[in-house]
Amino acid sequence: VEPYRIKVVEPLPVTSWNQRLAALDRVGYNLMGLASDEVTIDLLTDSGTGALSAQQLSHAITGDESYAGSRSYRHFVDVAVDLTSYPFVFPVPQGRVAERVLFSALVSPGRITLSNAHFETTRANVWLNGGQAIDLPCPELADLASSFPFKGDIDTARLKEILFGSEGDRVAAVIMTITNNTGGGQPVAMSNLRTTAELCNERGVPLILDAARFAENAWLVGQNDAQHWGRTPREIAQEAFTLADGCVLSAKKDGLAHIGGLLGLRDPALARRCELILIATTGYSNYGGLAGRDLDMVARGLVEVTDPRYLRSRAEDAAYLADLVRAAGVRMVEPPGLHALYLDAGALLPHIPPSQFPGQALACELYLEAGIRSTEVGSFNLGDEGDHGHVVSHELLRLAIPRRVYTRAHLAYVGRAIARIADRADQVTGLRIVEQPPMLRGFTARLQRVAD
Ligand SMILES: Cc1ncc(COP(=O)(O)O)c(C=O)c1O
Repeated sequence: VEPYRIKVVEPLPVTSWNQRLAALDRVGYNLMGLASDEVTIDLLTDSGTGALSAQQLSHAITGDESYAGSRSYRHFVDVAVDLTSYPFVFPVPQGRVAERVLFSALVSPGRITLSNAHFETTRANVWLNGGQAIDLPCPELADLASSFPFKGDIDTARLKEILFGSEGDRVAAVIMTITNNTGGGQPVAMSNLRTTAELCNERGVPLILDAARFAENAWLVGQNDAQHWGRTPREIAQEAFTLADGCVLSAKKDGLAHIGGLLGLRDPALARRCELILIATTGYSNYGGLAGRDLDMVARGLVEVTDPRYLRSRAEDAAYLADLVRAAGVRMVEPPGLHALYLDAGALLPHIPPSQFPGQALACELYLEAGIRSTEVGSFNLGDEGDHGHVVSHELLRLAIPRRVYTRAHLAYVGRAIARIADRADQVTGLRIVEQPPMLRGFTARLQRVAD
């Protein structure tokens, strides 16, 4: 059972089919335009959408709002240093600010970063500093059905080739995203992380963790790698941090917070440079653009998240929904991770070509069917990145599961909606774009059904 009971509740919006159809027309078949009151179950993202614990919420009162040297800052630093072992830890408003600050110091024109898979903002921040972000996913990731448990791994053979080849001097950093969000929420094995760390050490290149989902990665390592059986998720997470030279961390995921993030570093010179950029752009390093209460809530969240009972329950939620999806005959990225399921919309809707966005068509159909909001990860959202180097190999629909928010009854409702759509999949029609910005079109582009 869930290892908590519910103390504060909020009504679920309920809408009719006709209201949802009108809403889709109004927002141009782009679910980002919906008001949250039009959404019954919101699986758009697991970022900043979780429920706070009573202890986190108590910090709304006890948070220390002093500009410098606050109790809340001390709390944040104590927890962050204990978790990561990095001597320099800075609070930031969210993950992408940590990326922006770090890459302003690390990346310059002509340099490259290598990763198992850069998250979109990570890629954009490398690019904004004149660098190029190159993904080196392991070969197993290409096979959606493969049950290989660590499909988030980096391809260490290619990593070695680049680090020690003619391009080696251009590498500014290696970034390991745990878990690999863009790559189907798949975990990274500790052995993969260790080999990567050894290669980086040998070449003198910093290894940075994008640790937004460090606890979920630790859980999956503990479950799927016999060498780590019997260890706590916290011990496994601590070991992962120890292998790297620093981290960028969005606390909106495994910080169990609504806002916040963390930049952690070992190198004093790099930390000093980052601190300067942080102070000039985001806030003094004792609060990093956050309120004192947020620092406390993040600190508390970073402790609660490695509770094995919480992580087990979260894994079981994902597994429960995955079973319903499989029973409906819908394929997805296997094995399911913890934060999201990635349905194979391309396989479910083979009559819709990538140019008509099967993932987005499925997202709209799921909203129309049951008021469920999800997000496309395919040609619509990723296909406009052109020379930024992203190749869209699968048309996926991501169902992200907010933390501690929905019960299994809610997930059963989602499963039933997916089964109904699967039964009439051949009637789902594709979409075409009628209006789009020059990049990041997923946020604002408008679409129409091709049949209209
Ligand atoms: C893997 C990963 N890195 C970085 C980020 C960016 O974090 P934030 O949204 O807090 O800026 C995200 C957000 O979804 C993410 O999933």
